[in-house]
Amino acid sequence: MEIILAPSILAADFGILGRQVKEAESAGAKYLHLDVMDGVFVPNISFGIPVISSIRKYVGTVFDVHLMITEPERYIGRFIDAGADIVTFHAEATRDIAGCIDMIKARNKRASVAISPKTPLDAVLPYIDRLDMVLCMTVEPGYGGQSYMTEVEDKVRELRRKAGESFDIEVDGGINDETIIRAVNAGANVIVAGTAVFEGDITANVERLMKSCGQ
Ligand code: DX5
Ligand code: ZN
Repeated sequence: MEIILAPSILAADFGILGRQVKEAESAGAKYLHLDVMDGVFVPNISFGIPVISSIRKYVGTVFDVHLMITEPERYIGRFIDAGADIVTFHAEATRDIAGCIDMIKARNKRASVAISPKTPLDAVLPYIDRLDMVLCMTVEPGYGGQSYMTEVEDKVRELRRKAGESFDIEVDGGINDETIIRAVNAGANVIVAGTAVFEGDITANVERLMKSCGQ
């Protein structure tokens, strides 16, 4: 199965964001992971719609928009307008998971649900047939630069068994040269990396991370 690296711009230099996302794309990244935080669902605030629509003009990568916002149903349409190709919302953030999936699918975009480390797989299993991806958080959502939680691998393994070989399973948080291999071995195929891509030489980091998982 092809492993996809999704650099998270949370760790980028926002003063030269356009240049940095172009560099990540030229180095081979096919996705960009965009972490939207509202200061309510998570304690941190990151960026929102205008930043996403601005960088949409600079790269042709798949935009994987990770909504760490409460009641995502209020904003899904606007993030799609801004350029999202995949909309990932948190199971813990809405009372209407099915309704959110419907909103994304009605716009012909890929629907994905994220679960925080302590949230059981049961929160997403009833929706698997309608979903394109599930994101298993390997850190508590809210901040970049945290340590990878190995205990989440059991959930990834179980999801891979239940969802089948062709289903996209994303992991996010604490990915580096070593943990990327662990996550892939557990069954993840879409790998988010923030610090490991944007700290230092972006091109070298993307190439090295892709190589460490055999790409
Ligand atoms: C955390 C975000 C992650 C974060 C990952 O809430 O969802 O995408 O940017 O950052 P690293 O790779 O530095 O752990
Ligand atoms: Zn994320």
